[in-house]
Amino acid sequence: MRAKGDSVQTAEPRHKRWHLLGPALSVLLIGSAAIAQTPEQAPDTIQERLLACAPCHGVIGEGTSNAYFPRLAGKPAGYLTNQLVAFRNGRRRYPPMNYLLEYLPEEYLAVMANYFAAQKPPLPAPVAPDTSPQMVKLGEQLIEKGDFNRGLPACMSCHGPNLTGMEPAIPGLLGLRASYISAQLGAWRYGTRTAKAPDCMQIVAGHLTEDDVKAVAAVLASRPAPAKLDPVPKGSYGLPFPCGSQPQ
Ligand code: HEC
Ligand code: HEC
Repeated sequence: MRAKGDSVQTAEPRHKRWHLLGPALSVLLIGSAAIAQTPEQAPDTIQERLLACAPCHGVIGEGTSNAYFPRLAGKPAGYLTNQLVAFRNGRRRYPPMNYLLEYLPEEYLAVMANYFAAQKPPLPAPVAPDTSPQMVKLGEQLIEKGDFNRGLPACMSCHGPNLTGMEPAIPGLLGLRASYISAQLGAWRYGTRTAKAPDCMQIVAGHLTEDDVKAVAAVLASRPAPAKLDPVPKGSYGLPFPCGSQPQ
């Protein structure tokens, strides 16, 4: 029950602070068709339009100092498109993103996704886990081996042996901060984030205790980047159970 309080408390102030920004940014994105603009004000390249995303995600999607604002760069394009569609359709909830994308057509969402997927800035420095050695062991166990008795497959069995994800729609799990990872796992447990059915992450998150979440988040955030950061090609390995977002 406590995790519910956690996610609600963190979502509320972010919502309050940013909710006025959404409509203004949509106008910026839709551009000259929506309002009369002089030619020099009208954004004419995708990079200029994507500056609307920069305050929260960084200029090329490298992330910002806000621990709840995720990095976008280098994530598989299909994954990013799925997220943008999910925000637009309200299947994933975060009010500023929901307002911002409300009027955008899917083709435009895919253009933005492709842009960020193609950016390859380095990952942020890993952060040493702030938990006990037992928690670190638990996190490593779940990430690498899972827990057979609880029907929990290893995170690596879907996110890849190097945790770099798989094309087209499974994201890597490195370069994310612990607070963002726990917030997302919490969002799945409480239904504010959902993916196409069967929503395999909802099943995984539903099996995790609060300690599990803390442990995997801390260990993931402490892992250094592997030499090759790109998601592996589609079909490189089979999944332990199907995910609606990832065509097999
Ligand atoms: C006001 C801050 C803000 C702005 C502006 C913003 N975002 Fe976001 N975005 C967020 C936050 C916070 C999340 C994570 C929400 C959550 O907790 O689920 C997010 C999530 C995302 C995700 C999902 C990332 C993932 O790994 O799952 C994508 C994709 C995304 N944003 C794209 C964009 C794009 C493209 C723009 C510009 C058109 C944009 N965002 C503008 C704050 C913002
Ligand atoms: C059965 C396959 C599968 C397993 C096992 C799995 N994941 Fe996932 N995970 C996915 C898919 C697919 C997505 C993308 C879902 C979407 O489109 O929103 C995802 C997304 C995520 C995200 C969101 C990343 C972001 O940038 O917002 C996190 C965090 C995550 N998984 C953590 C974990 C952890 C931790 C484990 C192990 C405890 C795990 N996953 C095990 C398939 C899996």
